[in-house]
Amino acid sequence: MMQEQSEQIAKHKIIASNFKTNHTRKSTKEFVENVNKFLQDENITNEVYIFPTATALNEFDTVSNLSLGAQNAYCVKNGSFTGEIGTEQLDEFGIKTILIGHSERRHVLGESQKEIALKYNYYKSHGYQIIYCIGEPLEVKEAGLTETLGYIWEQFDGIDLDYDNLILAYEPVWAIGTGVVAKVEDIATIHRKIKKKIDKPLLYGGSVKPSNLEEILNIENVDGTLIGTSSWDVEQFKDMISITSKK
Ligand code: PGA
Repeated sequence: MMQEQSEQIAKHKIIASNFKTNHTRKSTKEFVENVNKFLQDENITNEVYIFPTATALNEFDTVSNLSLGAQNAYCVKNGSFTGEIGTEQLDEFGIKTILIGHSERRHVLGESQKEIALKYNYYKSHGYQIIYCIGEPLEVKEAGLTETLGYIWEQFDGIDLDYDNLILAYEPVWAIGTGVVAKVEDIATIHRKIKKKIDKPLLYGGSVKPSNLEEILNIENVDGTLIGTSSWDVEQFKDMISITSKK
């Protein structure tokens, strides 16, 4: 079963929308229903992920290739962790997918690699589909390829890379939400290096939009994309699903 799943992943490109701190419960519901209908009507079988805010999670009735995930949750079932949610709250909505290690969690919210690894291991032990993000800040990129790769390998500290339900996402910090997309050669180089070590689906993220999506999907070792800003408009997201489905 797991093998079938990974073959499926390798065949079709993946597309994921990270809502970050955008959309309400109402607009999330409309968005999910709209995308779901589109996938059905167009017979699109690529894996599609949507990561709404924690307040907009719900048990949506969707086709099997559309998964709803949590942008973040604490490594606990329940307890005294003010402001956090755990698996008890995710279970209420049947959520079995989570983003871990996103650059905003690392660099804005200050999550350490140790905390991220704890979270990873907890959600791994509960069988979650994990989209695990890595990527370097600008000063590291500017220091050169050796430094960049060194920085990225450290982001795998404590992370079991043999986990079956693992998807990786390379997202250079300097390309996230900035409109600056990494150059094709940069993406190709980093993806090749990561793939050589780790045989898992590898997404690219960072200022992906309808006008550059096709070019990015054509890069070798890019198995799909994780998209923020340009995915928050449902028509634009559907356009990008359409482009992805043809790859
Ligand atoms: P962006 O965000 O598309 O707005 O650059 C990507 C991400 O953070 O996942």
